[in-house]
Amino acid sequence: MARATGILMVCLGNICRSPTAEGVLRLRLEEAGLSSRARVDSAATGSSHIGHPPDERAIACAAKHGVDITALRARRLALEDFDEFDTILCADRTILHEARMRKPRTSHAQVELLLEWSGVGKKDVPDPYYGNARDFEQAFKLVDAAAHGIVERVRQGRF
Ligand code: 4NP
Repeated sequence: MARATGILMVCLGNICRSPTAEGVLRLRLEEAGLSSRARVDSAATGSSHIGHPPDERAIACAAKHGVDITALRARRLALEDFDEFDTILCADRTILHEARMRKPRTSHAQVELLLEWSGVGKKDVPDPYYGNARDFEQAFKLVDAAAHGIVERVRQGRF
């Protein structure tokens, strides 16, 4: 069988959007029977929340949709990630720019916009951190739509 592809979700704090994306993608892969085909992780471009669990509003929103992200802990995007992951998916265009700047020349990782790469559309997942429960719900819906697109890509071996 083909080796598992590595997919890394990246946002600013790794406490709202990317841990939600990590948790929901892992669940959607499980539901599709494709867990062995992809390794999923998440990381932050910023360092403010390193070691922290996801934001409690992100935990509550994910739980409402049957996704448990309580065990995740924020970590910083590391140089080694550009060798260890095949695809690095960024929550918004600012993160995309930052991650591409950090990508070593020797890395073959694809660094892409999450919603664009997953077929949802060329747009950002708006940062819900300074928002309310509705903003978290909107972010969840977008990353869940992305997860469905990614499951299809994984199924078809397109990465
Ligand atoms: P995230 O959200 O990038 O989706 O995890 C944020 C978390 C923390 C901050 C900003 C966005 N912050 O400014 O601390």
